[in-house]
Amino acid sequence: MKTVSVCFVCLGNICRSPTAEGVMRRLVGEAKLAERILVDSAGTGDWHIGQPPDERAQRAASRRGYELAALRGRQIAAADFERFDLLIAMDDKNVAALRQACPAEQRDKIRMLMEFVPEADGRWGGAREVADPYFGGAEGFEQVLDQCEAACHGLIAVLRPQLLA
Ligand code: 4NP
Repeated sequence: MKTVSVCFVCLGNICRSPTAEGVMRRLVGEAKLAERILVDSAGTGDWHIGQPPDERAQRAASRRGYELAALRGRQIAAADFERFDLLIAMDDKNVAALRQACPAEQRDKIRMLMEFVPEADGRWGGAREVADPYFGGAEGFEQVLDQCEAACHGLIAVLRPQLLA
């Protein structure tokens, strides 16, 4: 059975990437692909290792039925570049940090989340990045969720035919 493993990556692993992980887990379950698409998340920084997701991220997610409370922050490690098929970053800084830590032969695994939003979805005007909501207001966390939902639908649409081929 073909499988694919995906690690979402942001700076702290307490706002954006755990949100993407929670959204992806639910959509993968709904698509009956939970045994084929393995999902995790990590941060490039070390400030929030062992911490649960930011309360604001948890609250916003739980209003849409996503449960993030059991997740814990961790930092990306050398083994992750071997272990995962895709390392999906939220912004250009995350990509730069991943590229620095990544062996050259694994660099193609590094992608941006917003690449997977279908082109027809014009809500964010072609934005390349999922903006960091940490220092902003509640609306930032809603936008992160909207972007994660759109991109994770798109990601599943890309992966499904590869897994079932
Ligand atoms: P995240 O958000 O990268 O989406 O988890 C942040 C969390 C913490 C910090 C920055 C961004 N921080 O500076 O501590």
